[in-house]
Amino acid sequence: MQTLTDNYNRVHDYLRISLTDKCNLNCIYCNPAKNHIKKLQQDEVLSYEELLRLISIFTGRLGVKKIRFTGGEPLVRKGIINFFQNVYLLKKQFGFTTGLTTNGTLLEEILPDLKELGLDKLNISMDSLNPVRFKYITGKDNLESVLRAVNKAIKLGFSPLKLNVVVMKNVNDDEIINFVDFIKDTNLNVRFIEFMPFGNNNWNQNEFIRFDEIKNIVESQYVLKEITGTKNLVAKDFAIEGHSGIVSFISSISNHFCSSCNRLRIDAESRMKLCLFSNRNNELKFKDILSNSDYSDEDICSMIEKSLHFKPIVHPEIDELLKLQENNMLSIGG
Ligand code: 5AD
Repeated sequence: MQTLTDNYNRVHDYLRISLTDKCNLNCIYCNPAKNHIKKLQQDEVLSYEELLRLISIFTGRLGVKKIRFTGGEPLVRKGIINFFQNVYLLKKQFGFTTGLTTNGTLLEEILPDLKELGLDKLNISMDSLNPVRFKYITGKDNLESVLRAVNKAIKLGFSPLKLNVVVMKNVNDDEIINFVDFIKDTNLNVRFIEFMPFGNNNWNQNEFIRFDEIKNIVESQYVLKEITGTKNLVAKDFAIEGHSGIVSFISSISNHFCSSCNRLRIDAESRMKLCLFSNRNNELKFKDILSNSDYSDEDICSMIEKSLHFKPIVHPEIDELLKLQENNMLSIGG
C-alpha cells in the first residue's frame, strides 16, 4: 500500500468529502449573504458512482484510513442512505473509518440506519442551546429537532459523539458555560471552534474570540485536565472535573496546527483542496478526471500523489486569508 506524503513528510491519511454545496440552514458565520453564492448543478457535483470510485482509490491504494462526509449539509442529498450502504461495503473491504458532520436537522430518523451501517464518528453542529438564538444564527427554528437527534444519538451509543460550536463574540459567547453544563452526564464532546474567515462570510475581528479566552471562561467555573497522548492533532481535549463529557478547543486561527496536518479535502465542486485555506492553483478537479475514460485508477493515483507536492507548509496569516474569495465553507465543508 502506498501512502500520500507531501514535501514536508506529512502523511495524509484523512480525507473529508463534501457531498453537496446545498444546506437547509443559513448560518451567519457561513452564508450570511443567504444564497448569494451560485449553486452547483447536479452534473457539476460528483455522482455517487464517482465518489465510490474515488473512495476505493484513496482507501484501497493510497493508504487513507479515515473518510468524513461533510457539505453544505450532507443529509440534504437525495439517496444518501443507499450511498452509505455502498460505502459500508467498501469499508468492509478496505478497513477505513467513516465520519459524518451534519447540522442535525435531518438526522433523527436515519440514526438507526447510520448505526447499522457502521458510522464510526458523528459530529453535530449546534451553536446555541437557546431556540431564539438558534434561529438568529441559523435562520431556522430547528433547535428542537437537533436536540432530539443529539439525545437519540446518545441513546444509540454513538461514540465519539461531538458537538461543534462556532464561538462568536456577542453572539453566543455567553453560552459557553451552558454548553459545558449540557454535557455533564453524557459522553458528548463539546468542541469550541474559533470563528474562521472565508470568502463571503463577513468575518470581522470584533466577533472573533480566541481559544484561550474561551478556555478561560470555562476555567472560571470548572477544573480542566488536559487529555494527552490522544492522536487528536486538531483539537485540544480536556476532561472536566465532575463531568463525564469532554471539552475541546479548536484554534485554527490563533494557534494553527499545520505542521501535523494529515487532511485532504474534496469540495462539492470535486476539487481536491490541500488546505482549507488554499486558493485554486494546482487543484485537481475530479469531475473532469473521472469523466475521461482514458485515465485508469493508477493514473489517478499518480495525479493525486503529484498534487501533494503543492501542499503549503502552513496556511496564510489572517490578513491574507481575508483576501481569499473562492473558498466558501458551503462548498468546502469543514
Ligand atoms: N468558522 C469556524 N467554523 C466554521 N464552520 C463553518 N463555518 C465556519 C467558520 N467560519 C464549522 C461548522 C461545522 C464545521 C464543519 O465547520 O459549524 O461544525
